[in-house]
Amino acid sequence: MTMKKLGRNDSCWCGSGRKYKACHMIFDEKIEHYALEGHIVPRHDLLKTPEQIEGIRQSSKLNIAILDEIEKQIHIGMSTEEIDRLVYDMTKEMGGIPAPLGYEGFPKSVCTSINEVVCHGIPCKERLLKDGDIVNVDVSTIYQGYFSDSSRMFMLGNVDSETQKLVKVAKECIDVGLEQVKPWNFLGDMAQAINDHAKANGYSIVREIGGHGVGLEFHEEPFVSYVTSKGTEMLMVPGMVFTIEPMVNMGKADIYIDDQDGWTVYTDDGKPSAQWEVTLVVTEDGYEILTY
Ligand code: MF3
Ligand code: CO
Repeated sequence: MTMKKLGRNDSCWCGSGRKYKACHMIFDEKIEHYALEGHIVPRHDLLKTPEQIEGIRQSSKLNIAILDEIEKQIHIGMSTEEIDRLVYDMTKEMGGIPAPLGYEGFPKSVCTSINEVVCHGIPCKERLLKDGDIVNVDVSTIYQGYFSDSSRMFMLGNVDSETQKLVKVAKECIDVGLEQVKPWNFLGDMAQAINDHAKANGYSIVREIGGHGVGLEFHEEPFVSYVTSKGTEMLMVPGMVFTIEPMVNMGKADIYIDDQDGWTVYTDDGKPSAQWEVTLVVTEDGYEILTY
């Protein structure tokens, strides 16, 4: 960690207005100790202030309201374009901006990823949801400058039992990951718990794409992998805001990107993939899911 050493009586870097010694001094010493042991530790600018967390919380309210509405309206025969329209209209109506729209050239307001599409599926009017489909709808919202990001799986009609299990296990992966989220654990603790759970069910986790810090921007540091090991990756400390969003493949972990549209990510073996996503903040004694 590179930072100018603050004096004990200087005002704290966090903006609380309190003296450093009465605020984050002990905290910084603890982080420094981990850094000296060779661990990756977060810079101060990755730690959100209470005001910023409140902003992300408000943004998350829009984000989940949109997903709740999709949950009500999604049906067989609906096009992914209609889902996109719903996301766009509802976000605008509530005073927000859909973060994906125009993001690095992404053409739509939401990602809709069906069956063997792992993520970043582009909504279109030709693709109608059909009986037996599973679809991930990934909504990312900007509200008053703050970003929130979450996704859910939806099952249409009669989904075969093997695929239903995939969706269920992908959800459980979020829960086993969350159990590891607390100050002074590592992102790798969470990753390994998730990877172990997927593997125990015969599934695999996508390596190349993961979660991310979020809040002041769509994608911030750190990159959050779900295939790393316990005791590795960034130290978790209060104020870190990031997503948990493992992509769980029924078959092999390998993926490829559509070379026509440059976005859609598929499983190499054509087997289905499932993903749920939450945005959370690390608190003093664990975590708060902002997108619930
Ligand atoms: N919502 C995705 C995530 O969870 C990112 C999608 S990028 C986009 O990180 F441009 F495709 F929207
Ligand atoms: Co995300």
